[in-house]
Amino acid sequence: MDFKELVVKALEPALAGQLDAAAIKSLIETPKSSDLGDYAFPTFSLAKIMHRAPKMIASDLVGQIDVTPFEKVKAVGGYVNFYLDKISFAHDVLKVIAQAGEHYGDANIGSGNVPIDMSSPNIAKPMSMGHLRSTVIGNALANILSKIGYTPIKINHLGDWGTQFGKLIVAYKKWGSEDAVKADPIKNLLHYYVEFHEKAEANPELDDEARAWFKRLEDGDEEAIALWRWFRTVSLAEFNRIYKILGVDFDSYNGEAFYNDKMADVVKRLEDKHLLKTSQGAEIVDLSAYNLNPALIKKSDGATLYMTRDLAAAIFRKEHYHFVQSLYVVGNEQREHFQQLKAVLLEMGYDWANDIHHIPFGLITANGKKLSTRKGNIILLENVLRDAVGLAKQQIAEKHPDLPNADKVAHEVGVGAVIFHDLKNERLDNFDFNLEEVVRFEGETGPYVQYTNARANSILRKAAIDPAPEVALSDPAAWDVLRALGDYPSMVLRAAKEYEPSVIAKYALRLAKAFNKYYANVKVLVEDSELPARLAMVKATTQVLTNALQLLGVGAPEEM
Ligand code: ARG
Repeated sequence: MDFKELVVKALEPALAGQLDAAAIKSLIETPKSSDLGDYAFPTFSLAKIMHRAPKMIASDLVGQIDVTPFEKVKAVGGYVNFYLDKISFAHDVLKVIAQAGEHYGDANIGSGNVPIDMSSPNIAKPMSMGHLRSTVIGNALANILSKIGYTPIKINHLGDWGTQFGKLIVAYKKWGSEDAVKADPIKNLLHYYVEFHEKAEANPELDDEARAWFKRLEDGDEEAIALWRWFRTVSLAEFNRIYKILGVDFDSYNGEAFYNDKMADVVKRLEDKHLLKTSQGAEIVDLSAYNLNPALIKKSDGATLYMTRDLAAAIFRKEHYHFVQSLYVVGNEQREHFQQLKAVLLEMGYDWANDIHHIPFGLITANGKKLSTRKGNIILLENVLRDAVGLAKQQIAEKHPDLPNADKVAHEVGVGAVIFHDLKNERLDNFDFNLEEVVRFEGETGPYVQYTNARANSILRKAAIDPAPEVALSDPAAWDVLRALGDYPSMVLRAAKEYEPSVIAKYALRLAKAFNKYYANVKVLVEDSELPARLAMVKATTQVLTNALQLLGVGAPEEM
């Protein structure tokens, strides 16, 4: 059920020999105001080919096409405006949604594995708001891609290797305590790490010690490995607590350390292809042909690097998962890193590097300032989520004091609010985080969408009869809701194509707003002949809002 197709079909015979169906479809626009119709076909590009005025072409077209499927077709300037037949549109949309249910919006477009590198926090550091972004964007993309036929593989590429572990071991051995780490692992490990940086500024010898300990770790020294493993285990236990709160799981936790035994092979492949050059003692791949800085493969002390591990990971993912696309949901500040990664793989002769896509995103700021873990200027994610749930609980207690499952609902609303706020912003935009605003029940928030859904559900509970999508719905006040309902499948496709969950979040807001406006103007439960159809529309609204929230990884409580 794609109403654009009706327009394409109507235009096709008249434009035969000039534009094919796909070309016609790609030209069709959705007018800003519904006064100008539901679809508009611009004739400007035709005018260039035909050497005729757009206005003339538009009015000629209106005379040539079969207008019976439409309420009306009108030429306005260089556009042909199509007004859908509202009653049959309503009927079709409501029937399709009632039949498809939770599968409304599914499509069979893609197939094959799509590894999604997401979340990927660093061991012994708190998960930051940046990692939250990667987690929720990655999770939403996995949901969206799986709706259209792909098999997503969610990979948590943990930052569990690197020179920072040398620093941490030094700091722990000098001023750490086992009891403190056990009592509050990440908080204390972070504390040691921050302290290390403070002290190393005055005493650079600490950095030498840290390098030596990292070398011991890379060489498999028992004490170093035992400490590293312990830090990793306690950190992961804390991360998992947060993932549980967010309702996100992973198919793999293969982090950077997983590739240790695969590094020699990568270096060998690079050598065999004569790609390695020595520069100031380090091994690099020159990427000047790509206008990029050289990729650092091996440091002068032999230690391998972030890039080397990502090369090993990319090759492993291709050989292990045979991916059709490989995504990396990682902050925009790592843009060059992923450009280099692709360039090196292309140099190695791997054409599939073109199927690798970095999915960058912007920063979350607090009062306009960037958050960083190193200086201790961080927001602890778990606290944010806990506070969000607390705020949700207060508001629910005011609005609905006798709500059953109030705690569960407060969790879905509070956590959902944080996730929704993140996803409604276009990925690349930076945005400020203010908890009170995020958890508000009005405005462009997750709770607003959830509340709309709950309100629609309560109408259905109050109704004395069942919804019936086959009954005609002619009320013009319903039109914006119906149009929004009909648009959902194309939104899923667009979100997938652009790797942009905000398309779905913005869509959910649009549908919720249209529904609330309708509800404010129309007495839904009045007993007249259209009541079953109105109920069908209310039901379709709950279905589509629930589907959209599910794609975003946000709960849709039936009451709140
Ligand atoms: N651990 C890194 C960080 O926090 C992100 C890793 C992203 N994934 C990757 N394959 N490089 O910055």
